[in-house]
Amino acid sequence: MRTITIAIDGYSSTGKSTVARQLADWLDYLYVDSGAMYRAVTLFALRKGLISETDFNKEALIETLSAIELEFRKNSEGKSEIHLNGENVEKQIRTLEVSEHVSPVATVPEVRRKLVKLQHAIGENKGVVMDGRDIGTVVFPNAELKIFMNASAKVRAQRRYEELLERGDSITFQEVLDNVTERDHIDTHREDSPLVKAKDAIEIDNTETNIEDQFHIILQLAKDRIAGRI
Ligand code: DC
Repeated sequence: MRTITIAIDGYSSTGKSTVARQLADWLDYLYVDSGAMYRAVTLFALRKGLISETDFNKEALIETLSAIELEFRKNSEGKSEIHLNGENVEKQIRTLEVSEHVSPVATVPEVRRKLVKLQHAIGENKGVVMDGRDIGTVVFPNAELKIFMNASAKVRAQRRYEELLERGDSITFQEVLDNVTERDHIDTHREDSPLVKAKDAIEIDNTETNIEDQFHIILQLAKDRIAGRI
């Protein structure tokens, strides 16, 4: 049976990572959360004081990029987690603070070049499900299966809000909605690798369906592609 590359792109909080992870588990493929890489670089910049409420010192971040080493390692349950210079930062990269600053960091071409290089290295042998914003357009334009996920901003913000509340964060729905809307704007308007649907991507909108139902649709698509049926 042939091994393929699966690219899952789309807006934030559309359930991309849930579907991508499940798909990778089911197919016994490698799952790569490319957003986690941009988040880890943002966490690094925050910790180094390169980002404040009013300022983002891009030049300093570019200069220190070589000091950032990222790696995915599986935890005891087999779940892949991101490590920043050897430290597991899977939880620390999911805060609203990181979410608020990640999109500007992801506009920096030098950051993108570094991370895309790493994504190529991880996915070069196929058998990978990678989710992000530019996977089907820039990272793996020849991916055999490309999915583009979408949902209304309100529904996405509500899902994210519930997740953050569950983690114990104290935030309002409006704050989450503002963050989702602002990230959408930056991600779709940036000059380098903006979020766009690849011409050959299959669009899936889950404003009104649940992510579980969608998983089965996407799994079937993957099986068909692997078998060369479509
Ligand atoms: O998928 P996520 O919400 O964890 O992604 C965090 C941010 O990283 C998102 O706002 C845009 C950026 N990103 C990107 O520019 N390119 C990718 N391939 C993945 C994420």
